[in-house]
Amino acid sequence: MSMVTLATAPAAGAATAMPLKGNTPVKISARDANVYYGDKHALKHVELDIRRNEVTALIGPSGCGKSTFLRCLNRMNDVIENCRVTGTITLDGEDIYARELDVVVLRARVGMVFQKPNPFPKTIFDNVAYGPRIHGMATNRRELEEVVQTSLERAGLWKEVKDRLKDAGTGLSGGQQQRLCIARAIAVSPEVILMDEPCSALDPIATARIEELIDELRQNYTIVIVTHSMQQAARVSQRTAFFHLGELVETGDTPQIFTSPKDQRTQGYITGRFG
Ligand SMILES: Nc1ncnc2c1ncn2[C@@H]1O[C@H](COP(=O)(O)OP(=O)(O)O)[C@@H](O)[C@H]1O
Ligand SMILES: [Mg+2]
Repeated sequence: MSMVTLATAPAAGAATAMPLKGNTPVKISARDANVYYGDKHALKHVELDIRRNEVTALIGPSGCGKSTFLRCLNRMNDVIENCRVTGTITLDGEDIYARELDVVVLRARVGMVFQKPNPFPKTIFDNVAYGPRIHGMATNRRELEEVVQTSLERAGLWKEVKDRLKDAGTGLSGGQQQRLCIARAIAVSPEVILMDEPCSALDPIATARIEELIDELRQNYTIVIVTHSMQQAARVSQRTAFFHLGELVETGDTPQIFTSPKDQRTQGYITGRFG
């Protein structure tokens, strides 16, 4: 495993977003991405570059297509009946919709964390060991234990659970369960982590802990987060994309989007005139 230990620099808890670095390489690129649910054109001609080691926030009113776009990035829309995706989405320049592409491998490279923490009805250990086991990533027990520990450490949960790895994952608090789900996602060494409103079921303290964690994870992963909280987008992301009625209206570095949006619709949303 080529995992690097997380730097232990103090996390920027309530800090505002860091300024953008110059030309961070593009990790994921969407060109003329469209999604249809039956006849409904839910996502329209989206063009977006997601840069490596940055947090990109997807914001916009409910129903504007944030989750739909997020699901394009690891082909989770494939599992929705009647859903059709067109256009080009690349990961490191490779078309992820190419016929020969192995979707299981793609979803290991582009992991996902959902709105409601969804640990498996298994022990804490087995939740994290699940991915490495099915992907054959550990050749013996010792290696598996190592992956589980490293993943829990990176998810900021190790200290809280190291003496109760055999307890049920579902017995943890909501915030701990969400960190367990992040550990589970990390365990297969993804390159990108997609998060769909990961804090919306959490209290403010658990939310702050996850936001801190996102800022730490950025050093090793590319993160795309859907959030309905503009404060959260401003706190955790370097880049923000504003969606409205299925269109990507505007994208830019986060401070710019929140202080001087170019489009009236963005302006309207961030000042609370609609949404
Ligand atoms: N499985 C589905 N079947 C049909 N329509 C859907 C489905 N999922 C989402 N939609 C529609 O697509 C649009 C975008 O939805 P969604 O991506 O969930 O928005 P958001 O995450 O921004 O709230 C909405 O009009 C929604 O009703
Ligand atoms: Mg959504």
